[in-house]
Amino acid sequence: MADISGLKERVEEIRQEILKKADSMQTVREAYDAKIDYLDSKRGKISALMKDMRSIPADQRREYGQTVNELKTWAAERFSEMDARMKQRELAARYEAEQIDVTKPAVKMHPGHLHPVTQVREELIDVFSSMGFEIYEGSEVETDYYNFTALNTPKDHPARDMQDTFYLSPEFLLRTQTSSGQIHVMENKKPPIKILSPGKVFRADDDATHSPMFSQMEGLVVDRHITLSDLKGMLDVFAEKIFGEGTTTRLRPSYFPFTEPSVEVDVSCFACGGKGCSLCKGTGWIEVLGAGVVNRKVLANCGIDPEEYSGLAFGIGLERTAMLKYGIGNIKLLFESDVNVLNQIGDQT
Ligand code: DAH
Repeated sequence: MADISGLKERVEEIRQEILKKADSMQTVREAYDAKIDYLDSKRGKISALMKDMRSIPADQRREYGQTVNELKTWAAERFSEMDARMKQRELAARYEAEQIDVTKPAVKMHPGHLHPVTQVREELIDVFSSMGFEIYEGSEVETDYYNFTALNTPKDHPARDMQDTFYLSPEFLLRTQTSSGQIHVMENKKPPIKILSPGKVFRADDDATHSPMFSQMEGLVVDRHITLSDLKGMLDVFAEKIFGEGTTTRLRPSYFPFTEPSVEVDVSCFACGGKGCSLCKGTGWIEVLGAGVVNRKVLANCGIDPEEYSGLAFGIGLERTAMLKYGIGNIKLLFESDVNVLNQIGDQT
């Protein structure tokens, strides 16, 4: 195309190409790339025409230069138009996509709430700390001595059959009860003692109402002249706060090696008010915890003189309390962490 007539054809070709591109163009990026394709000083098709000028006969050079320059100016205008049009187009698309309808109802937030077992734990801590109890958290790995022997449950004691223990070694085990904390506290603190000990406990037990890991809360009071009636007074407050106003307690004789006498504590049925229903199996009462007067031997094991001091203790199962309180039939629901289930259980605040 080293003459002027070839150039005219080429110029027309380029014009048509550019107009076609302008028609199908969608983005600012495409506009930029097209401009580079034609006008970039190194790679541009129009710049290449300019470079060809050297091979043009001298008498045609002027016209050649003018023609290419016109094309260049025309193309620069087209590309700047394209750029402006594409910017406009992208902006319009963004406005459309990011449009906010301020009259639309707000998206509902689900802030979540405490797990029902945590709720029960905190409520119990509130009730008993308002009566002056302090928190002691023992350890989940215990020795056989703290979990059993010191609690008046020696190796050959039949009460050990009540609990299926996870032994880690002949000496170490996963505690089966928070009662082990009683011994640590009494070994380290002189009366008066008033502690509450929440924590996880472990037993080889697994069905709809039992889990191999569950939570308990132990209470221990040791002082001069502590009797079973002190226990009854505290438990009445506990029953009303946890299960609702008007709930009362009754004590039934039971057996635990570490208390003498031992009692099972029932609360009046908060579902039917004591008349008898399916929750209380028609009895009007629901068993909620074990308790008793600390066995003299346990005090003596910890170096506390049973002639001078006496104590009371109680142990509450937290999952069991949550199940009763919120009407949950299967303990697994408390461990599976299914948010759809948990959102239906407990207080939602
Ligand atoms: N440790 C008992 C259990 O795991 C519960 C218990 C009963 C705790 C009586 C006590 C108590 O402190 O006095 O079943």
